[in-house]
Amino acid sequence: MSESTYPEVNDLTLEEKASLTSGGDAWHLQGVESKGIPGYMITDGPHGLRKSLASSTGETDLNDSVPATCFPPAAGLSSSWNPELIHQVGEAMAEECIQEKVAVILGPGVNIKRNPLGGRCFEYWSEDPYLAGHEAIGIVSGVQSKGVGTSLKHFAANNQETDRLRVSANISQRALREIYFPAFEHIVKEAQPWTIMCSYNRINGVHSAQNHWLLTDVLRDEWGFEGIVMSDWGADHDRVASLNAGLNLEMPPSYTDDQIVYAARDGRIQPEQLDRMAQGMIDLVDKTRAAMSVEGYRFDVDAHDEVAHQAAVESMVLLKNDDAILPVSSDAKVAVIGEFARTPRYQGGGSSHITPTRMTGFLDTLTARGVDVRFAPGFTLDLEPADAAMAAEAVETAKGADVVLMFLGLPEAAESEGFDRETLDIPAKQIELLEAVAAENRNIVVVLSNGSVVSVAPWAANAKGILESWLLGQAGGPALADVIFGHVSPSGKLAQTVPMDINDDPSMINWPGEEGHVDYGEGVFVGYRYYDTYGKAVDYPFGYGLSYATFEVSDVKVARTGDNTASVSAVVKNVSDVDAAETVQVYVAPGKASVARPVHELKGFRKVFLKAGESAEVSFDLDERAFAYWSEKFNGWHVESGAYTVEVGTSSRDIAGTGVVELDGDGKSEPLTEWSTFGEWSEDPTGSKIVASVYAEGEAGNLPKMPDNDMMRMFLKSMPINSMPMLMSEGGKKITAFMLDEYAKVAK
Ligand code: BGC
Repeated sequence: MSESTYPEVNDLTLEEKASLTSGGDAWHLQGVESKGIPGYMITDGPHGLRKSLASSTGETDLNDSVPATCFPPAAGLSSSWNPELIHQVGEAMAEECIQEKVAVILGPGVNIKRNPLGGRCFEYWSEDPYLAGHEAIGIVSGVQSKGVGTSLKHFAANNQETDRLRVSANISQRALREIYFPAFEHIVKEAQPWTIMCSYNRINGVHSAQNHWLLTDVLRDEWGFEGIVMSDWGADHDRVASLNAGLNLEMPPSYTDDQIVYAARDGRIQPEQLDRMAQGMIDLVDKTRAAMSVEGYRFDVDAHDEVAHQAAVESMVLLKNDDAILPVSSDAKVAVIGEFARTPRYQGGGSSHITPTRMTGFLDTLTARGVDVRFAPGFTLDLEPADAAMAAEAVETAKGADVVLMFLGLPEAAESEGFDRETLDIPAKQIELLEAVAAENRNIVVVLSNGSVVSVAPWAANAKGILESWLLGQAGGPALADVIFGHVSPSGKLAQTVPMDINDDPSMINWPGEEGHVDYGEGVFVGYRYYDTYGKAVDYPFGYGLSYATFEVSDVKVARTGDNTASVSAVVKNVSDVDAAETVQVYVAPGKASVARPVHELKGFRKVFLKAGESAEVSFDLDERAFAYWSEKFNGWHVESGAYTVEVGTSSRDIAGTGVVELDGDGKSEPLTEWSTFGEWSEDPTGSKIVASVYAEGEAGNLPKMPDNDMMRMFLKSMPINSMPMLMSEGGKKITAFMLDEYAKVAK
């Protein structure tokens, strides 16, 4: 029973219960006015509040909303590797919701960046589920700490925009459990988001909204989710099937609550199921009531702008810094080229589009700070061909400058919710301009603005410095000036690999699918799990990012703390004279495994701010899950016994030290049968003894003699023992029978 002072579901009529399971309009819950249950507002998300001005009419104009602080979208924030900072962003977003009387903000979105061309990569966190879950949890806990709800989305497997409303993402159980679920699972278990939004797509043929396995068996029964599930906007195609699957709320409403009433009357919906779904809605309203009852609250616009500023600083990743071209000294003659410096691209397109409270571009910031630079836009922010006059002006502007800051990237039309990109490249006219400027002046720093990875290889030779600034939100200008002029060191780390060529990506062979389905053929080998396992060259690896400081990681110590757990510690030292932050990363590398496992996987990270010369010890506990894989055989997590290497480093390819830990394994095993292979018998503690006696008894003349040489041992390895007659006819039958008899004796 809920402790709500609202009526319980039992106090409602069937019609009232049904009405709770769809919205009142596109941005409101329906409530039950006669019983005092309000229809609170719920709206986007995810990197700030998008409260549509047209919401009272129910119409949607994505670009017309009340001013709200625009924090860096996840593309940027994910590079901060700083959950505490992300928590602060969440708190600030909640305060804005309280002012605007929004009960639930629709985010964060934690889908995996399966392929960098994905249209929503800019609002998703990472190619790695551990990182995505351990960062985005900060938004959930931060928002909810102020009494406002979040909607963790899009559950699950919205990894592309092409055909997103219909496509069936065909994914193995193992890849779902190891790659596409863990960010959701972690946040559900540790922070209990008050709502979850299901995805548009189908998973293995079933629409998420109607997927009982997904919404009830896994989410509620296995993970213990206590909140409500809502549909993505328009993802509910069958009210009855969805409600039965565990969907509490259809958004926006299709005004078909009578379908629920009829189905409840004729038994297609069980009364308990409707009660459960409706009670969830009452509980949600109850949870948000305190915050929604606050009157006259005004959030602190300056303080939130400052949070956005700090978040932007930590979102940037310094990819290249030859000749220490950055930071730029205050007395340098600086040329700034590129329209992005004047007209920043600071957020992505689609449902997350925010009207910022203020907007300060890089050039505005320099003017405000009294920094004198020469500027030429160089190109227009569209997909039109180059303008020769603008290009010539830019080359002229670069002449004689000590440093040329070239702002390049993806214009708004190149990436958005709703479609996937077709190329990893930035527009050709920008690359041509870079070449022309480089012919005049070699001291170039490229500052990139883009929501998802762009290729760097085609033009990197023309830049001494590359600063990946992603999309920085409304305070990107001051943040860029702080980093470029060295007031603060960059500290971001890549949350996704920068490949050399999009065709290197393992998902390309199944991207974006065909005839209504997409097969996730790469399985668990997503991003660095593929590149690192198969030794492929990349431009910049996962976890990578330079600093103005230099750090050393040493004293890596790994210890077993239980049968299948370990701890690891290391010392990180700032060996430079610049104050800065480093992010220590822990990867687990399984030893010999009976399934194909990535060469290593991220299982811990910590960002440490260290003053010049300072050092700190960091330590991590690795639980059983850190060593496990999802076994389809056992339909569960499985830790095999054996040696595991724990790696500590500063990117997936900069490992400073390692330690090995021997684990017992969880002891899961399957009984041996006639269909088990000689290899499986040989690896089993009991089976191996029986295999040994088959050879011994053969030598002793008590059984037919097994053919025994290297080639035959290899041959037998993958042969079920019931195939022995194929090899040795009647003699083979005897061997199979002997093995099964011996095994039966031990098993008794
Ligand atoms: C998006 C969601 C968003 C919703 C409401 C959908 O199209 O996929 O992320 O929250 O619209 O704007």
